[in-house]
Amino acid sequence: MKSQNSSPIAGINPVTASTQPDLIVELHSILEPLDLTALFPNGRPLEVELGCGDASFLVNDAELHLDRNFIGVERLLGRLRKLDRKGRRAGLVNLRGVRIESSYFLKYLLPAHSAAALHLYFPDPWPKRKHWKKRLVNERFPEIALRALAPDGVLYLRTDDRNYFEQMREVFAAHAAFRPVETPADLAGLLTDFEREFQKRGVQTLRAAYRRG
Ligand SMILES: C[S@@+](CC[C@H](N)C(=O)[O-])C[C@H]1O[C@@H](n2cnc3c(N)ncnc32)[C@H](O)[C@@H]1O
Repeated sequence: MKSQNSSPIAGINPVTASTQPDLIVELHSILEPLDLTALFPNGRPLEVELGCGDASFLVNDAELHLDRNFIGVERLLGRLRKLDRKGRRAGLVNLRGVRIESSYFLKYLLPAHSAAALHLYFPDPWPKRKHWKKRLVNERFPEIALRALAPDGVLYLRTDDRNYFEQMREVFAAHAAFRPVETPADLAGLLTDFEREFQKRGVQTLRAAYRRG
């Protein structure tokens, strides 16, 4: 029997972007975990980008991997609206955005061990020493990532800030549940909005990735 979805490509919605529903998730409760099967009934592997900004990376990644589902987490509504516009223009049904703080999302809203990958690219570096305590990746973050990741799940990190990069490496080196892995070349080639701007100015991207054992 012919599927109702007449798109030749699984994952691409045949309806036009203007009629496609909003990709920004309306949170009915911030006390209950998200119902992922309601968001993505196909149950495909889930990837989450924390602080997705203008979402160019995530939209490109979602277009390239229609066999996976993607959630962008971002605290600024204006930026999340860009995810919505870009995703709908591309007809994506494997992408959603959630407006919330990243560590809260990982601790309380994302069902435990549900993410095949976490992407954290160019998180605010808080360069002044007195502000380092505000950094997302601190000594508590590996435990939070561990709760979020499925067995064998991978956390991918990028930053332009050398001091923050060293802190990232130190906190993950100190956690027995993670081992360092390479970032695949095709993933590294998918640039974020900030990264594109940094590259124009000759600023190097520092990358690390950790697999859950
Ligand atoms: C420096 S920008 C990088 C954006 C994007 N990842 C990129 O590389 O183009 C950091 C983004 O993370 C968001 N952000 C910072 N801290 C956050 C937090 N704790 N929770 C959610 N979003 C956060 C900011 O609003 C901003 O959009």
